[in-house]
Amino acid sequence: MSQSRPEQMRTHWEKFAEGDPMYYIATWNKNWTLDDFFASGLEVAEKIARWAGRQHGGRMLEIGCGLGRTAVHFSRWFDRVDGVDISPKMIDMARSLNPPDHVHFSAISGTDLTQFENDTFDLVYSYIVFQHIPEEAVIESYLREISRVLKPGGQAALQFDTRPEGTLIKLYKSLPDPLLPRPHRRFIRRYRRRPERLQSLMEGAGLRVEDEQGKGTAEHFFLLRK
Ligand SMILES: C[S@@+](CC[C@H](N)C(=O)[O-])C[C@H]1O[C@@H](n2cnc3c(N)ncnc32)[C@H](O)[C@@H]1O
Repeated sequence: MSQSRPEQMRTHWEKFAEGDPMYYIATWNKNWTLDDFFASGLEVAEKIARWAGRQHGGRMLEIGCGLGRTAVHFSRWFDRVDGVDISPKMIDMARSLNPPDHVHFSAISGTDLTQFENDTFDLVYSYIVFQHIPEEAVIESYLREISRVLKPGGQAALQFDTRPEGTLIKLYKSLPDPLLPRPHRRFIRRYRRRPERLQSLMEGAGLRVEDEQGKGTAEHFFLLRK
């Protein structure tokens, strides 16, 4: 029987987790040491905490946490950090790497956040995850779920790839995987989205765009408020 899309996403990320997790998480370095890999997460955690104006306290959720590269650093700003991921293997590894006691990792369906109550988090964060999700319907589902689990007035910092996509790129992406370099293959490649469409989905989910960085680039961050 053929797999559903979330099952396909999970199967691919489970393979990446088995093969070379640090490379597939952060493809800009082919030879990570564990120390360098985790050190690379501090800069982005600091940037987001500063941007969101975080003082210490409250709860944070990271969607697509992988091995916890950034979640462990966010623990400086929060009483509790939850990291969730579609890949149980990523989660097992993240747990085995001695995270701080107030950082908790769990596997999720890949489309929703059903294990969390309404109005739970002060900040929801996701980096280099939504860019790998092929279907807009999954993004829409996540945005609704993020809005649901955020406390009233809570924030979300979410990254998307919003570079324009021309005909050449579309043709290139239609090539079969074996002809493409590893980071350009299906499920690890980046799916580009139009910023106006994303904003409309965000607003439809009850999330107001408070600020943006890097619009029209591969590192387009939205700062949203419920
Ligand atoms: C490129 S890695 C980034 C990991 C982490 N955010 C970081 O910056 O180190 C993408 C992660 O998202 C997870 N992922 C992919 N699709 C997902 C989905 N639909 N829901 C939740 N996690 C997903 C993958 O298993 C992988 O761990």
